[in-house]
Order: sequence, then structure tokens, then C-alpha cells
Amino acid sequence: MPFVVNLHCQFSIVFIFTLQITLDMKKVAVIGAGTMGNGIAHTFAQFGYTVSLIDVAQSSIEKGMATITKNLDRQVAKEAISEADKAATLANITTFNSIEEGVKGVELVVEAATENIDLKLNIFRQLDAATSPEVILASNTSSISITKIASVTTRPDKVIGMHFMNPVPVMKLVEIIRGYSTSDEVTDLIMDISRKLNKVPVEVNDYPGFVANRILMPMINEAIYTLFEGVAGVEEIDTVMKLGMAHPMGPLQLADFIGLDVCLAILEVLHDGFGNPKYAPCPLLVNMVTAGKKGVKTGEGFYSWGHGTKDLIVASNFKK
Ligand SMILES: NC(=O)c1ccc[n+]([C@@H]2O[C@H](COP(=O)([O-])OP(=O)(O)OC[C@H]3O[C@@H](n4cnc5c(N)ncnc54)[C@H](O)[C@@H]3O)[C@@H](O)[C@H]2O)c1
Repeated sequence: MPFVVNLHCQFSIVFIFTLQITLDMKKVAVIGAGTMGNGIAHTFAQFGYTVSLIDVAQSSIEKGMATITKNLDRQVAKEAISEADKAATLANITTFNSIEEGVKGVELVVEAATENIDLKLNIFRQLDAATSPEVILASNTSSISITKIASVTTRPDKVIGMHFMNPVPVMKLVEIIRGYSTSDEVTDLIMDISRKLNKVPVEVNDYPGFVANRILMPMINEAIYTLFEGVAGVEEIDTVMKLGMAHPMGPLQLADFIGLDVCLAILEVLHDGFGNPKYAPCPLLVNMVTAGKKGVKTGEGFYSWGHGTKDLIVASNFKK
């Protein structure tokens, strides 16, 4: 009997410890202050978390903090938050250039650095060394295997995908990706935290493209093939999908927003991962990326950008 009582006590201690992590988690680090990282930091800070925003590039930190301030101003103007909420959100964010400094005392890290496998593996090796073993390490990767990222750490049960959508403060979905070894406890906790951020988490398993990009990217690729084969023009393809399928924007416009280089990289992950020719990127997409026409971020993709109007102007290569 004493043995049973003792065991019970041990279980109680484990249970209380787990529960405390769940309820008390308050400090997070976000790696990368770019498009996604600043949105993720903004969202955690708005919901009361203390956030360390870490980027190797000081210019990214400055641009990221300016974007957060501008987006908070927009929320104030829409009366979604008050001036006091804005001030509290900004006060919750501290910036760092070093991972070792920034992750001190945090309970969760969300990595949102550049989509490059070697870079991410290096960051996770660094995070594994710089944080205590109970810290959960999440990645916002769009396509890199969570199982692969977890394999360079000593805590694969605590590595998970937390795939926010762009723009993060606005978009409701978080795709929660379970790596091969991610534990139930960590998955449940990350689902809970996502709900606390007023998001809707959806749990998926770790296979190429997860769910969002496995379905979205073949649609975008097919739209590019439809253009490439001369079935219809840019405007016609996007109009069919907007008005016929009630999509808020056409697939070619969406590809320009995501970045054609990012679309190409994800299609290559799908193609390599499944070995199925149906995922082969359209040669037109490959050509455009090679020519530096990557969409909004370079000023030209299927449309021309940066002309200062809200009108959609088809890029000169695709004008009829
Ligand atoms: N852009 C999107 O629409 C989108 C959507 C969902 C997920 N994602 C994913 O989010 C991640 C970030 O994408 P993004 O669009 O924000 O990229 P981005 O290029 O806008 O930002 C990446 C940032 O990472 C920083 N960085 C690079 N190496 C670093 C390091 N070692 N330590 C700290 N910071 C480092 C860069 O300086 C840069 O500021 C990627 O994994 C991407 O696949 C992007």
C-alpha cells in the first residue's frame, strides 16, 4: 500500500507541474521580426504575454516595431482596442539581436525566421542549448518538416508547428502541426494558447505542405498552368475564381501576395516529399522567379505593384 500511495503522490506532483505550466505561461520569445514574426509578437503581446522579439538584423527589428505600431493604430482607429491597450501591447515587447539573451526565462519560443532549412536547423540547435528542457519550441514554417526540425533537438516531444496565417493579427486560423514525436500534452497546451490568442487552432499531422499549403499550392500551380497554356488571361482566371467560387481574391493575385519564390519553394517540398508529378511547379512559375518577378515584394508578378493605386494592373508580360 505505501508503494501505491507514493506512486499516487508522484503522479500528483507531475500533474500539478504540468497544470502550472499551462496556466502560468506568460513569457514567449519570437524569432524573426519580418512579415510573420512582427504579427506573432503583436498578437501575443496584445493578449498579455511578455514577448522577446529577436532578429539578427537591426533593420528588421526597427521595421517590425514600426509595423506593429502602425497596425495597432489601425486597430485603435477601428475602435477594436483602446489607446491604453496599444500602450500596454507595446510595453509587453522587448527586442533583442541575440537568441541567447532573448530566450532567457521564456516558456515558449515561436520561430518565424526565413524559410530555409539549414538556417532553421541551426536556430533550433541554438534554442535547444539556450533554453531549459521544459521550454516548448514551435516553428511557424510553411513547409519544412517539424519532425526534421525536432530531430536536431534533445526534446522532440516538445517541438511543434504553430503555422499562423498572414496578416497574423487578423487571420483566425493557426494550423497546429504535430511532429512524429510531439506529445499530446504539448499539442493540447499549444491548442489552448492559440485559443487564448482568440485564434482557431486546427490540429494536423506532419506531412509535406501540412493541410493549408497541400491544398492551396496545387490550386495556385494549376492557375499558373492555365495561364501558361493560354486557356485564359490573368484577369479572366482570377475573375472566374473570385466570382464563381466566392474566393476573396483570385489565385494569381494571392500568389503575388504570398511571394512567387515562396510558392515555388513549397511546391518543390510537395514534389520532393510525395514524388508525385502532379506537384511539379509550372515552368512559367520557375521562369518568373528566376527573372526576379516574385510578386508584391519585388513590384511585379502576375500584376504590377507599387503604382500607388488600389487598381489591379496586369503585368506587362501578360497584357493582351
Ligand atoms: N509570409 C507569409 O505569408 C507566411 C505565412 C505563413 C508562414 N510563413 C513562414 O513564416 C516564416 C517567416 O516568414 P516571413 O514571411 O515573415 O519572412 P521575412 O523574410 O519577412 O522575415 C524573416 C526574418 O527572419 C530574420 N532572420 C533570419 N535569420 C535569423 C536568425 N538566425 N535569427 C533571428 N532572425 C533571423 C530576418 O532578418 C527576417 O527579418 C517562414 O518560415 C515562412 O515560411 C510565412
